[in-house]
Amino acid sequence: MEKLVINGGRELHGEVEISGAKNAAVAILPAALMVSKGVCEIENIPGIDDVHCLERIISSVGGKITKNGTTYLVDATDELKVVADTDDVRKMRASYYLVGALLGRYKKAKVELPGGCAIGVRPMDQHIKGFEAMGAKVTMDHGSISVEADRLIGANIFFDVVSVGATINVMLAATLAEGQTVLENVAREPHVVDVANFLNTMGADVKGAGTDVIRVNGVKELRGCHYSVIPDQIEAGTYMIATAACGGEVTIKNIIPKHMESISAKLEEMGVQVKELDDSLIVTSNKANLVACNIKTSPYPGFPTDVQQPMSVLMSIAKGRSIINESIWESRFKHMDELKKMGASILVEGRTAIIEGVDRLSGANVRATDLRAGAAMVIAGLVAEGKTEIYDIEHIYRGYPNIENKFRELGADIKIVND
Ligand code: EPZ
Repeated sequence: MEKLVINGGRELHGEVEISGAKNAAVAILPAALMVSKGVCEIENIPGIDDVHCLERIISSVGGKITKNGTTYLVDATDELKVVADTDDVRKMRASYYLVGALLGRYKKAKVELPGGCAIGVRPMDQHIKGFEAMGAKVTMDHGSISVEADRLIGANIFFDVVSVGATINVMLAATLAEGQTVLENVAREPHVVDVANFLNTMGADVKGAGTDVIRVNGVKELRGCHYSVIPDQIEAGTYMIATAACGGEVTIKNIIPKHMESISAKLEEMGVQVKELDDSLIVTSNKANLVACNIKTSPYPGFPTDVQQPMSVLMSIAKGRSIINESIWESRFKHMDELKKMGASILVEGRTAIIEGVDRLSGANVRATDLRAGAAMVIAGLVAEGKTEIYDIEHIYRGYPNIENKFRELGADIKIVND
C-alpha cells in the first residue's frame, strides 16, 4: 500500500506548471465519441487516474485512443457499443457523460450508474429531465441508466438546480438532436465553456456557454478536430492555497487568471499577495500575516466547492475565526476530523464549519477521505511541524498529476513510500 510521507514546515518557492483541467478532460474525451468521421487530437490531457480509468471505459465501448504525452488521439469511427458496464464505469462519476454522448450519436445508451467521491447524495434527476424533454425514454434498473429515443428532438429545459454534470450531459445529446435546444439555469464553470468550445470545434452549434442560457442548434454529424484542454482551475487553486499556507513565493504557470478570481480575492482578504500576469499568477505569503475569512461555496463564478477543503487548512492557521458554508455538497467535511488530529480547532455543524485559527499544526497519520480532502491533507502535512503520513492516497491521484514531484520542485520534503 502506498502512502505519502511529508516532513512539514518548509516554505515553498519557485514555479509550478498547471496541467489540463480534469473536469473538462473527463467530459471532452466521451464527447469525442460522438464523431463518426475523422479523429480528434486533444492536447493538454492531465495524467491522472480518472483519465486512465476513462481511457479503459472508452476502449471497452470500442473507441480507440493513441497517446503521445499529454496529447490524445481519439478515433471513434468504427461502430461503438452502446452499453458501458465494466467495473471502471462504476468507479468514476464522469462515466455518466457516455449517456449524453451515446444518446446523441446512437439515440440509445445503457451505462452503469457512476461512483466518484463520497461527498453526499449525487442524483441524476436533472440529467434525466433533460433527456426526457428531448424525447428519450429513461429507465433506471439494477444499478444502470438506460436511455432510448426514436427521435431526439430539441426542447426548452429549465434546470431546477445549477448542475455541471446535467448541463454538459444534456448539451452533448442536444448537439446531435433535431432542431434547437435551449438550456436555462445552466452551470457556467470554465469546464462547461471548454466542452462547448470543443463541441463547436467539431462542427456543433452551441452558443451562450459561460452565461446561464445555452442554445444548441442540432447538427447532423460532427467531425474530427484539434483541440487543447484549458488549465485546471482547481489544481491551480490548490497550489495557490498551499503557497499561502506554507509561506514563500510561487509562480503558478499556465493558467487563466480570470478563472482564479474568487480564490485570489479570498487569499488577498486573508493577507496573501496575488499578482496577476497574462497566463500566470505570483502568490507571495508570510504565514505570520494570515487572517481569518468566511467563504460560502457556490457555482461559478462563486467560490468553488472543490477548493473548500484545501482552503480549510489555510483557515486552520489564520488568526481569528473563519466560517465555511458548503452549499453544494452535504458531506464535504470528512477531512475535518483528520485535520483535528493535526491540532486544528474545528466545529462542524451540518453544512457549516467554524474554524478557530491555531498557531501551528503538528504532523500525524491521516487519511485522504476523498480527492480534495487528500489535497487538503497534503497541504496540512506541508504546513505541519514534523512528519505526516497520508494513507488512501489513490483518491489524490484521481485528480492531481505528479503532485509529489510538483511540490518537491517547490522545496517540499514529500515522497511516496510503499508500506
Ligand atoms: C461536478 O460534479 C464536478 N465533477 C465536481 O468535482 C464538482 O464538485 C461539482 O461539479 C460542482 O462544481 C466533475 O465535473 C466530474 P453537479 P457534478 O451536478 O457534475 C445537485 C472534484 O472534486 N444535483 O454540479 O456531479 C447535486 O446534488 C469533483 O473534482 C441534483 O440535485 O456536480 C449538487 O448538490 C467532486 N440533481 C449540485 O446539484 C442532478 O441531477 C451540483 O452538482 C445533478 C446535480
